[in-house]
Order: sequence, then C-alpha cells, then structure tokens
Amino acid sequence: MENSNQIKCLKQFLKREVGHSKRILDIGCGDGATALYLISSLNCTIQGIDLDAGRIHRANEKFKRKPRKGFAVCNVLKAENLDRNFFKIPFNAVIVTHAFHHLSNVREALVKSKNVLTRNGKIIIAEYTRQFGEKIDNCPRFSIEKIKLLVIKAGFQKIKRFNLAPGLFAIIGFKI
Ligand SMILES: C[S@@+](CC[C@H](N)C(=O)[O-])C[C@H]1O[C@@H](n2cnc3c(N)ncnc32)[C@H](O)[C@@H]1O
Repeated sequence: MENSNQIKCLKQFLKREVGHSKRILDIGCGDGATALYLISSLNCTIQGIDLDAGRIHRANEKFKRKPRKGFAVCNVLKAENLDRNFFKIPFNAVIVTHAFHHLSNVREALVKSKNVLTRNGKIIIAEYTRQFGEKIDNCPRFSIEKIKLLVIKAGFQKIKRFNLAPGLFAIIGFKI
C-alpha cells in the first residue's frame, strides 16, 4: 500500500523542484490532487491534462472551492497529442506523477513534452519502483534505468535521479 511517508516526500520534493517555475504542465493530472497541493503553497499556474473527463471535472471543481496562491485548470487531452500551438506560453516544468507507466506511447509523450517546455525547462517524472508498484496494483512499470534512457533519447539532458522514499523515485531531465 502507498504510505503517508511516500506521499509527504513526493509533495515536498515537487514543491522544492517546481519552486519558482511559473508555468507547470501536469500530465495525467487525475483528479488534481497534486496541482491543488502546489497552488495552495506556491504562486504558480498549473495546466493539468488527462484523458479521463470525469477526473478533469472533479479537478476543476476542487480548484474553485477556496482562493489559492496559484491558479490551476485542467483539460481533457492525451499526452501523446500535446501540441505547442495549444498553449500561448511554453511551460517551465512538466510533471508526470504516477502516470508515466499509463501512457500509451511514452516516446511520443516525452518528445511532445519537450516541445512545450521553455529552454532550461525540466521534466519531472515520479514513479513507484517496479517491485513496490506490484504490491499496489497490477500495472507493469518501467525500471529506473529504462525511464532514464527514454528521457535521454527524447533529447533531455543533465538527467538526475532521486530516491524519494523506499519504493518511490523521480527522474529529472532538462531541455537545454
Ligand atoms: C495513477 S493516475 C495518477 C494521477 C495523478 N498524477 C497522481 O499523482 O495522483 C494516472 C492518470 O493518468 C491518466 N492517463 C493515462 N494515460 C494518459 C495519457 N495518454 N494522457 C494523459 N493522461 C493519461 C489517467 O487517466 C489517470 O488519471
């Protein structure tokens, strides 16, 4: 089972890494829990995308409830269909939390993510390890090395790996 330590570590890590990023794209945002957390503590703008219309609806309802430091909005969009022309301004960071292994074409999603980032913008991918993930659900997950390789192949540089908590890691890559 996912534990509170993992949730806390991921939140703190994202807050620190997103930091002063003004514009963030949250791929596979689900019901907006991560976006809600980030806009509650940071003055940033988050664009969430997900292919599940029900989750998108729930996310947008959540954001309406209280004034926050930042602003978030979510739309139904498949990561593989991302297009730079959809957005007026490029993003400083793309986050993909617990969603990478769900994407139908990870290579395409990574290249499209890079296209919507500013120069020096970064992608942050957080996932459970394959071993830990197996205990939570039956989804097959990528190994840490495979994600690193995919991120490099998509053209990201200065790749860093973070062990956030037992069973939970993150990879960051930069668009140089
Ligand atoms: C396990 S949930 C993670 C939700 C959230 N990011 C979190 O950390 O709680 C994975 C999400 O990815 C979404 N998803 C799956 N494939 C996708 C795709 N190709 N493009 C966009 N979203 C996708 C699913 O609909 C689901 O909401």
